[in-house]
Amino acid sequence: MSSLTIPPSTPLYDDEPPSPEEGPPSPRNIIEPDSDLSDNGHETGSCDTSTKSVRESIFNFIKENGRTYHAYQAGSYLFPNDPPELERLDLQFEILKVLFGGRNHFAPLENPRKILDIGTGTGKWAVQMAKKFPNAEVTGTDLSPIQPMYYPANCKFIIDDAAEPDWMIRPSSLDYVHTRVLLGAFTDFREIIKKAYHSLRPGGYLESQEMYSMLFCDDGTMPPNYPLLVWQRRQDGAAMDAGRPMRIANKLKRWYEQAGFVDVKEEMFKLPINSWPKDPQFKMLGRFSEQNLLDGLQGFSLAWFSRVLRWTKDEIEVDLVNVRKAISDRSVHAYLKIYVVWGRKPYPNEVPRQS
Ligand SMILES: C[S@@+](CC[C@H](N)C(=O)[O-])C[C@H]1O[C@@H](n2cnc3c(N)ncnc32)[C@H](O)[C@@H]1O
Repeated sequence: MSSLTIPPSTPLYDDEPPSPEEGPPSPRNIIEPDSDLSDNGHETGSCDTSTKSVRESIFNFIKENGRTYHAYQAGSYLFPNDPPELERLDLQFEILKVLFGGRNHFAPLENPRKILDIGTGTGKWAVQMAKKFPNAEVTGTDLSPIQPMYYPANCKFIIDDAAEPDWMIRPSSLDYVHTRVLLGAFTDFREIIKKAYHSLRPGGYLESQEMYSMLFCDDGTMPPNYPLLVWQRRQDGAAMDAGRPMRIANKLKRWYEQAGFVDVKEEMFKLPINSWPKDPQFKMLGRFSEQNLLDGLQGFSLAWFSRVLRWTKDEIEVDLVNVRKAISDRSVHAYLKIYVVWGRKPYPNEVPRQS
């Protein structure tokens, strides 16, 4: 496996799909819709500058249908890496931060020394963690050199393929491994969990903050032919055909436990797809979520539908017209589920507690 340190000055940025009504809604967090269908309200209320040589090829991004894609291990990740996608990732970061009540992590971390963020993207999470834990060394890895120019001295970014069998990390050396929004990136996410287990010290934590790629609705306002739902099922099918499943979030807890993690916890958050909720906080989140979906839709579709389903760009663009309208339809009370799962690597001879 070749891994490359990115110079900080680089200017870059197995089962069937469930029915949308699947599972009883949790009475604790049913989101109440706003009866007003318009959305006019405003209720919400020491840089490391060292450089190392980097193989030029990782910057020779693949250009396709007007978007760019990663060059290192080209073809393995089907979402773009160009400025519009990076802006969207930053917006997504802010949305999740608000949704999680300002938290970057749920695992009970105590003075962690070595933190690894797999698929770090624009590196926002890694930078914030480096600031919060100045005694920690935070490493973010990614296929694309899209991390910021300036970042704290205890933070570093590496181009590395997490799908490689060997992470080239000393076994039992990490305190905390984090993954976020990696649906569709890997052929088998259980391999990532296994490698994290191997790399963590006993007592260290793995945490995944993952989006489940299906829409849900608690009040029957989402028809089966809702274009965003139809689009989602198509994308899910393409991902299954490509052997890179999207629906991993709801399986993480089981996979963590099967890998040997203990004290595995799961929390699920509902993210409305637009500003349909009445609650001001959810309405604001919905507004940003709508923006995020509208900004991302083309990038979410182009490579999956053209490379896997063999659609032309024009066919894809025509299809997206109705999907865009659907995203902004406030009469449909749809939401996404965001799962946060964390678990601890047991100490030697520790007897797992019965849960
Ligand atoms: C949807 S983005 C999420 C980025 C970041 N975790 C966040 O929450 O903003 C997924 C990231 O995973 C990276 N990625 C995909 N496959 C990868 C792999 N095999 N190894 C390392 N990174 C990968 C992509 O390049 C992309 O930046």
